[in-house]
Amino acid sequence: MNIAVFASGRGSNFQAIYAHIKSGKINANVRCLISNNPSAPVIGFAKNNRIQTYIIDAKDDGHSKQLLEVLDKHNTQLIVLAGYMKLIQKNIVKKFHNKIINIHPSLLPSFGGKGCYGMNVHEKVFKSGVKYTGATVHYVNQNYDEGQIIAQEHISISPEDSAENIATKVLKIEHKLLPEVVKKICENQLYWINNKPWISKL
Ligand code: GAR
Repeated sequence: MNIAVFASGRGSNFQAIYAHIKSGKINANVRCLISNNPSAPVIGFAKNNRIQTYIIDAKDDGHSKQLLEVLDKHNTQLIVLAGYMKLIQKNIVKKFHNKIINIHPSLLPSFGGKGCYGMNVHEKVFKSGVKYTGATVHYVNQNYDEGQIIAQEHISISPEDSAENIATKVLKIEHKLLPEVVKKICENQLYWINNKPWISKL
């Protein structure tokens, strides 16, 4: 399976997927990394690993045309948003229907939507007083964090927790959950039951 990864920042989820591919646990190729942020640390990682990298500014008018060209050039079969902070344009969502997945650091549909990304999510979770949070991998549609949920994993929050250590705990499960879903998709082991996507647990 030819994968294009989109990322805007640190890139730890990208590294987690890449490690699974390199060790042979996932049978796929990362064909390219696309970022909107020229100073994202993830770019250094991609370049060090000789992965083709494209900086495509989401503010440019022609950006979705540029994205489509890159995706076509690499015969992209799956797009993985691994910490990508921009909305995917309608024409891309349409062309890659159910071929774009995203990792989100909460149990959607809670703590999702515009403005809910990265550390903001954990701060909102902490302030709200909920007792559980977690990570969600979902299909991407034209709205932030609204596509169908594929898989979730939860952690419990204790009185000693802070927003920062909630983030650390959630990131740890993200690094397990996202590669697991990518693996299942690559192995054709994602099933549609009652119009909902399911993966069997490892
Ligand atoms: C991750 O926690 C990811 O779930 C989140 O950004 C972080 C990126 O970390 N994504 C979102 O908030 C998307 N709405 P990383 O760059 O180290 O993978």
